[in-house]
Amino acid sequence: MATSSIPIQITEAELKLLQTLIYQECGMYFDERRAHFLHDRLHRRLKACGLDSFYGYYRLLTSHEGKGELGALLENLTVNETSFFRNKPQLELFHKVILEDLLRRKQDRRDWSIRLWSAGCSTGQEPYTMAMLVCDALAYYYLRNPLPFEMPSPKPLIPPPWKVEILASDINYSVLRTAQEAVYSELNMEPVDYAYRLRYFDKVGDKYAVKKSLKELVHFDFHNLKTEFLPARNDIIFCRNVMIYFDEAEQKRLIEKFYRCLNTEGYLLVGHAESLFGLSDKFRMVHQNNGTAYQRIEVVNG
Ligand SMILES: C[S@@+](CC[C@H](N)C(=O)[O-])C[C@H]1O[C@@H](n2cnc3c(N)ncnc32)[C@H](O)[C@@H]1O
Repeated sequence: MATSSIPIQITEAELKLLQTLIYQECGMYFDERRAHFLHDRLHRRLKACGLDSFYGYYRLLTSHEGKGELGALLENLTVNETSFFRNKPQLELFHKVILEDLLRRKQDRRDWSIRLWSAGCSTGQEPYTMAMLVCDALAYYYLRNPLPFEMPSPKPLIPPPWKVEILASDINYSVLRTAQEAVYSELNMEPVDYAYRLRYFDKVGDKYAVKKSLKELVHFDFHNLKTEFLPARNDIIFCRNVMIYFDEAEQKRLIEKFYRCLNTEGYLLVGHAESLFGLSDKFRMVHQNNGTAYQRIEVVNG
């Protein structure tokens, strides 16, 4: 049992073992700059387990009984910073260009389903932002291209026959629970302007709860992006500020998986500090007014 409060030293060999295990489990890579953070989090978990050596902790993590602790460690290592309407120029591109293109292409094919995925959704602000923008884009689209029939009253968020599904996933159960609760503080709401607050939120005490009709568009689930089998048939994937924690080899593997998980001419949106440059030649960059996205390039056979 560890009793003293003196930090337990980690040997280079122990650090390497644990770094490799974490990388294999979830793709997160801790280089020199993040070694201190890693050591701190490992130390916390080691103490929480009442252990006194990092090798003992490694043995626990790799044992059958250690599965739960491995999950707890990964939760402690994730950075969950997020906000509503994060990276406005990119969202402007999503709203005005990408969704417009998608709606037009789908309508031409009489395919009325839209499937979006927020991969690494943290506490939910990203998928709810996507949902608000899709609702707006559909309403605006039908203002200019009226439906050939009377809209039901009260007007639904998603005009029939459209069907919108937004999958939001993360590796961290605790953030997924917060996302599912969908209740946000005044501070969280700071980037949300009043028109959106009125349309899509209910004020509950001093908090804001996402309205049921918007909430119903988003489905939350656990997915580890390190695994091979990821949700397929998406029109648009948001994976923002997740790949920065992976090394180049893992980033390449993930982008290849996203390519396979996208529908024809689907789009991938990555974070402001991330890019596909040098990682994949299977996407073309779409750039407008400081917003960037990547569209799947279709390979023509023969
Ligand atoms: C910094 S947050 C980004 C949240 C949101 N996408 C945004 O840009 O505001 C990164 C999220 O990625 C998740 N994450 C990290 N590694 C992951 C993995 N291997 N599989 C799934 N999610 C992962 C973390 O738990 C965290 O919630």
